[in-house]
Amino acid sequence: MSKPLIAVTGATGVTGQHLVPRLAARGLNIRYIARDIEKARQVLGDDVELVSADLDDGTSFDRALEGVHTLYLNSGHSPALEEQQTNAIEAAVAAGCERIVKLSGNIDSPAPIPEAHKALEGKIAACGLRYTFLRPNFYMTNLHYVAAGLKDGDSFTSAIPRDVEISMTDPRDVADLTATVLAEDAGHDGQGYYQTGAAVSLDEVAETFSRVLKRDIRYEMVDVDVWEDMVTRRGLPSWLIEHQVKMIGFAANGAYAYETTATQDIAGHPSRTLETFIADHAQAFART
Ligand SMILES: NC(=O)c1ccc[n+]([C@@H]2O[C@H](COP(=O)([O-])OP(=O)(O)OC[C@H]3O[C@@H](n4cnc5c(N)ncnc54)[C@H](OP(=O)(O)O)[C@@H]3O)[C@@H](O)[C@H]2O)c1
Repeated sequence: MSKPLIAVTGATGVTGQHLVPRLAARGLNIRYIARDIEKARQVLGDDVELVSADLDDGTSFDRALEGVHTLYLNSGHSPALEEQQTNAIEAAVAAGCERIVKLSGNIDSPAPIPEAHKALEGKIAACGLRYTFLRPNFYMTNLHYVAAGLKDGDSFTSAIPRDVEISMTDPRDVADLTATVLAEDAGHDGQGYYQTGAAVSLDEVAETFSRVLKRDIRYEMVDVDVWEDMVTRRGLPSWLIEHQVKMIGFAANGAYAYETTATQDIAGHPSRTLETFIADHAQAFART
């Protein structure tokens, strides 16, 4: 009997690119769905099934999900996130899929993106299909943005208080947990997995950068309005600034400091450390 067909969205993104080789290693029957086939082919290679569909166009998903058993639903930050993923959920129901695994986030946060994820989780839980929600905390890859200043200086700036901890997650751990949940199928129904690495303050992040990169790196904390001016000048869209300001307010209360053992419990290994992440991406933080 052939293996159940799993449709995967978001494979060209931050976590998706790590997921692809893990799914291949497990020998799963995968159909990748991407809006730009040529771009996706360059990332995913020639030897994968690739179907074109755009989350902004629900009818394209009706076609893309024909014959699919499980939909893995993942797409990037967007002011249209709820509408986009609702299109995919409705298409999954119409196509007779059995299960949805959704990459979500910390749905307790009052920021717009987590609120969209929370609404989407509600829609999935009510749609009649089996489901699992993956809820990673702050990706370590966000440091490429937060610590962009390390390319031309020895400090990075944010408005997060220096004594507040955030449990950062390595996207490779997200991919490990996702691949396990997709492969194991049974045993994860109705679950919502909060996933984190170890909690660290931005002062500790600076110390880790210093140790690993062998440079003296400092964290500069600024008021939120100063930070807003900075990222506005960097060209961040206003909806994303609004989202991040709310995330910073939520983080400032210690709400992202929780730690979980989901990576160990489900993927079967300890969560990757910040030290490992920085060492593995040292070139990206090097001075240009
Ligand atoms: N960043 C964090 O700290 C964090 C923490 C927890 C959860 N999350 C969640 O993780 C998810 C992934 O975020 P990310 O920043 O890692 O994403 P990302 O790297 O920007 O990847 C987004 C993916 O979605 C695809 N996509 C975007 N719009 C699409 C559309 N209209 N139709 C089809 N595919 C589309 C992109 O395809 P293209 O190649 O065509 O662009 C890409 O593969 C988000 O839902 C986010 O809320 C993020």
